Amino acid sequence: MRTQVGIVGAGPAGLMLSHMLHLEGIESVIIERASREHVQSRLRAGVLEHGTVDMLRELGLGERIGKIGLEQHAIDFRFGGESHRLDFHQATNGRSAWVYPQHELVTDLMNARMQAGAEILFETPVTRIDGLHTSKPTVHFEQGGEPRELVCDFVVGCDGFRGVCRDAIPDTVLKTYDRVYPFGWLGILAEAPAPTREITWGCHEEGFAMLSIRSPSVTRLYLQCEPDDDPDHWSDDHIWAELHKRLDVPGMPPVNEGKIMQKGVTAMRSFLAEPMQYGKLFLAGDAAHIVPPTGAKGLNSAMADVKVLGRGLAEKYRRGADHLLERYSQICLKRMWLVQRFSAGLCTMVHQFPGDNAFVRRLQRADLDYMTGTAAGRLAFSENFTGLPIET
Ligand code: FAD
Ligand code: DHB
Repeated sequence: MRTQVGIVGAGPAGLMLSHMLHLEGIESVIIERASREHVQSRLRAGVLEHGTVDMLRELGLGERIGKIGLEQHAIDFRFGGESHRLDFHQATNGRSAWVYPQHELVTDLMNARMQAGAEILFETPVTRIDGLHTSKPTVHFEQGGEPRELVCDFVVGCDGFRGVCRDAIPDTVLKTYDRVYPFGWLGILAEAPAPTREITWGCHEEGFAMLSIRSPSVTRLYLQCEPDDDPDHWSDDHIWAELHKRLDVPGMPPVNEGKIMQKGVTAMRSFLAEPMQYGKLFLAGDAAHIVPPTGAKGLNSAMADVKVLGRGLAEKYRRGADHLLERYSQICLKRMWLVQRFSAGLCTMVHQFPGDNAFVRRLQRADLDYMTGTAAGRLAFSENFTGLPIET
């Protein structure tokens, strides 16, 4: 098989890149390890930045967001027994965020790609890639147990944190940075309407909690827990008791209880790989970087990478111009370090770390007071939460 751009992974990064390339008349093939059903049903991110939504609209993918996306203007931070509403829409002169679940975005992308007759191979794990400094970069994969090859002009690794593409960059070139956090999130999906229409963060001295929204009748709730906690050790009664303790404050409607439809634990880490390109290989999304979910940046950062890469490839094929493609890693890493800073900073501000003393806890409280109680603090949070600009 031969194509122009070989894409490994049909997550949001791979599907979006393939869509952008198609609009530019560039051919691609996506090779995905899992089944289509699995890819479309994974429950993950929930919040899109302003720029991500603009990008989706510009690329003809905004229709369902307009119908079922829930535009957000503020976050309600709860600490010290009080509500501290941070209106990021006001602080940024009109920028928003949207609650739009990742599986809906993946469905939109998958439908658009299928309607355009895209070539997406499912249940075809990639085993390795090579030839990255030749005119025939090659993706090796398995189909029905048989080894197969895809020869391309460029290979893009959109294969997530545990993918294989990053391994093609030699150790002498690749530098990785990471921090593993001593806690995780127990996430549940509950059949219960949110008590207000705003995402609510509970920054409590016994652990963090968050109430987010998936639809008018479904809430997504998170509780700080042990990184290797077994979700089955959390009874429904215990979950609701902890959510009430960490999120409810006097004068505001309490968390609504409902049937728990799903329960899972997510470990947390910050991770970044440098560079994000090597020969004819480019890494995008979780294959290059992971953030703790606190800032809602994982999916949005994948979209930011793809925006730069899609334009870079379009310039290359249209005009033979290498200039953007050559700077891909540099452009993405500069922005990504700012996103890492925001995500790690927020994560550290709102969670309880084992062994922290009273001084550290008072500093966390001072950080929360500054972020919610000063114009400069509100602006810094708001610019980051609604999305930093993307250089292309
Ligand atoms: P992925 O979605 O991981 O896709 C990679 C694809 O590559 C997968 O389909 C995988 O099957 C495939 N693959 C892997 N290896 C191979 C191989 N060898 N061969 C072929 N295919 C392969 N982000 C936010 O922005 N906001 C949030 O609120 C948020 N919440 C989250 C909550 C949870 C519980 C989790 C787990 C993540 C959350 N994230 C959030 C992060 C977000 O989901 C990811 O950043 C996003 O999925 C990254 O997209 P991606 O396409 O880069 O990678
Ligand atoms: C979600 C919402 C957030 O505001 C956030 O910071 C992280 C995750 C969510 O809806 O999953």
